[in-house]
Amino acid sequence: MKSAPRRLLALIASLLLAATVHASKEHPVIGLSLDTLKEERWQKDRDSFTAEVESLGGKVIVQAANGDDTRQTSDIKALITRGVDVIVVVAHNGSALTRAVKSANDAGIPVIAYDRLIMNSDVALYLTFDNVKVGELQARYIVDHLSDKNPIRIVRLDGAPTDNNAKLFKQGQDQVLDPLIKAGKVKIIFEDWCADWKPENGKKVTNAAITRFGHDFDAILSTTDHLASGAIQALTEEGIAGKILVTGQDADLSACQRILRGTQTMTIYKPLKTLATYAGTVAVEIAKGGPVPKQAVLNNGFKEVPSVFKEIYAVDKDNMMTAIVADGFYTAEQLK
Ligand code: BGC
Repeated sequence: MKSAPRRLLALIASLLLAATVHASKEHPVIGLSLDTLKEERWQKDRDSFTAEVESLGGKVIVQAANGDDTRQTSDIKALITRGVDVIVVVAHNGSALTRAVKSANDAGIPVIAYDRLIMNSDVALYLTFDNVKVGELQARYIVDHLSDKNPIRIVRLDGAPTDNNAKLFKQGQDQVLDPLIKAGKVKIIFEDWCADWKPENGKKVTNAAITRFGHDFDAILSTTDHLASGAIQALTEEGIAGKILVTGQDADLSACQRILRGTQTMTIYKPLKTLATYAGTVAVEIAKGGPVPKQAVLNNGFKEVPSVFKEIYAVDKDNMMTAIVADGFYTAEQLK
């Protein structure tokens, strides 16, 4: 048996060895902990991210928590145990991962928040799209395209209250709408949060609005395509799909098809490949001890988190081909 000082020396030696192995990794292993893989967009993010890391000689271990906070915490713990070099996280609940991030940091593993900010924790970096601008473009689209209505009557489907992005989307929408609401030009007749971003909750809120106000509204300010799909189902059942302006976000394939068919009006195209590929490059660089990029900072309650935002675009039937097809997101064939 080793004496206490020898055990301490052995521990220090193994820690030093582990540190050097991490810093000089030729083939880093990156953990990717996702909220869910049940939505189209996250499958795309995973695929582009993995392809990039592999092209740089690394490997990705993917975990998906399917919307369960306890499971996401244990997913992250499993990645720590497997000794990954960096963990990239799409948080289901941005406020529920403080402990998991601390465990990773205690093990010397940097954590990158991907798309959604993780609150109150020492995340190394936040990589995302300009989420406030997403909300601004959605609201601006409604205002610009319904200028003949006075006031414009809106039903608003807010996102999942557990996702910090939902607050940022709303903030962007408010920046456009608040002055117009004050001026009496816009009226939000009904509004609610949609737990877990589920389409059935989008449908439920739309049904509730119809129960109270009938068909007397002009637009559904839906935060995502997924929620829009539920709302459009409700509108279809009422025979008014295509008569109400419906917004969205993500450029899901089914949403782009709905836009071309006229039941959804617009979406926000987020070039997922750009963000996921960039995240793959940066994760590998950080795993090799490289610098953390910083375009801006965002406060997460614990620190000013170095952040990078990628550009987003409003898309409707008029620019679908130039924005989405020309960028290689879908082929014209897929959109038929
Ligand atoms: C993302 C959206 C996505 C939503 C639901 C948000 O955090 O930014 O792109 O549609 O989550 O998964």
